Amino acid sequence: MATTVQIEQVANASERYAQRVNPEWVRLLDLLHMNVRYERCVGVELFTDDGRRILDFLSGYCVHNVGHNHPEVVRALQAELERCGPAMIQTHVADLAGELAERLCARAGGRLTKAFFCSSGSEGVEAAIKFSRAHTRRAGILCAEHAFHGLTCGALSLMSDKFWSEGFGPLLTDTAAIPFGDLGALERELKSKRFAAFIVEPIQSEAGVCVPDRDYLRTAESLCRRYGTLFVLDEVQTGMYRTGPFLAAHKFGVEPDMVVLAKALSGGLVPCGAVLMSDAVCHSVYSSLPRAFVHTSTFSENSLAMRAALATLDVLENENLGQRSVEAGKYLQAKLREALREFEMVKEVRGMGLLMGIEFREPSQLRLRIPYQAFGAVHPAMFGQIVVMRLFRDSGFLTQICGNNFRVLKVAPPLVVTEPQLDEFVEAIRDVVALAHSPGAFWSEALGLARRAFRS
Ligand SMILES: Cc1ncc(COP(=O)(O)O)c(C=O)c1O
Repeated sequence: MATTVQIEQVANASERYAQRVNPEWVRLLDLLHMNVRYERCVGVELFTDDGRRILDFLSGYCVHNVGHNHPEVVRALQAELERCGPAMIQTHVADLAGELAERLCARAGGRLTKAFFCSSGSEGVEAAIKFSRAHTRRAGILCAEHAFHGLTCGALSLMSDKFWSEGFGPLLTDTAAIPFGDLGALERELKSKRFAAFIVEPIQSEAGVCVPDRDYLRTAESLCRRYGTLFVLDEVQTGMYRTGPFLAAHKFGVEPDMVVLAKALSGGLVPCGAVLMSDAVCHSVYSSLPRAFVHTSTFSENSLAMRAALATLDVLENENLGQRSVEAGKYLQAKLREALREFEMVKEVRGMGLLMGIEFREPSQLRLRIPYQAFGAVHPAMFGQIVVMRLFRDSGFLTQICGNNFRVLKVAPPLVVTEPQLDEFVEAIRDVVALAHSPGAFWSEALGLARRAFRS
């Protein structure tokens, strides 16, 4: 149990944050009973200052592939700080960036022979937009509906869900979104020859962990080539062995012209992003001596990020975490399917490696459908958030629903997750889902949440 001093500390920290950063964020976390103070985070485990152990089954949206504070990554960062090496001099050749680029390109293979470094996924997508335009001399960018590519203006222009862009326009104008998986729509758009790139996630994460048909990406790639459009994969969530191979592209047998990486790239401690690209694309951007620095950023290639990413690659490879992702993913998927089979509100368990989603649906039984619809009318995310809240508060699991598909619960633990931890999760989600199928506690909780949410 939390002591009075601990409760006061959380309250003070939250109050200061609310006053000076973002009061609505604090309010939302309070509402969901998720405003706890983490004291120590190791591997899959997060320890709070009131003695709780939370298992992280979200991984910061696929940041913590090697687990929280992996000792090898921590050691590499400490060593980099202690050596007093060159950092952000800006007018030197960053040797660590060269080493990291070489290793990333070797693992990515195919056409990907050069790297540009940045500090976030959004920044990587911005670079990919500019590089595609430079290479093709076309302005248009094609994307898939319900994608998530980041919240800077360019990346946001590639996201069809209006929630994210409302009030922030105007954005890029020459963009179009087509249904994910629809090759007919893709070809119709590509035929216009106005698109520099088709930018797409190989598995759409925030859209609901949507895994495409086996041949979708291969055919999309060849259509792009036919019409002179670059084929660009956003692997910000799927990359770095999350789905098994180094890139999900490898699973689908495609050779993109560019790949965007971020999140797990640097082990969850230092921001880092990368755009891997072909020689031809790189040459189109950095085409002459005067254009040697035409696209760059102050924190790009910074030594801490480069060092963290090199150490992260070592951990991923030495601990064979790609294979681990495949095996643990298979195990978890089978266990979840088995445990949730009897519940009518569970539509599907799907995913690849340790990027998984549990999709819920409206129940057919009247006694459940009425509250389900009523709470959906209050807010479409209500059902999912109660599931998330109960998993967190009652069973100690951190999860979230997908940003562009509230019916899907994302399940993406660090790749170092153990079998007993997976078993614990299966039991916890089974309990919550069972509760949702009995009228009573689950739904009265939702009513309480709705009341608190709309009390100003
Ligand atoms: C697939 C994908 N692309 C790009 C981004 C943007 O990355 P960042 O938040 O680092 O800017 C995200 C963020 O969640 C993402 O999921």
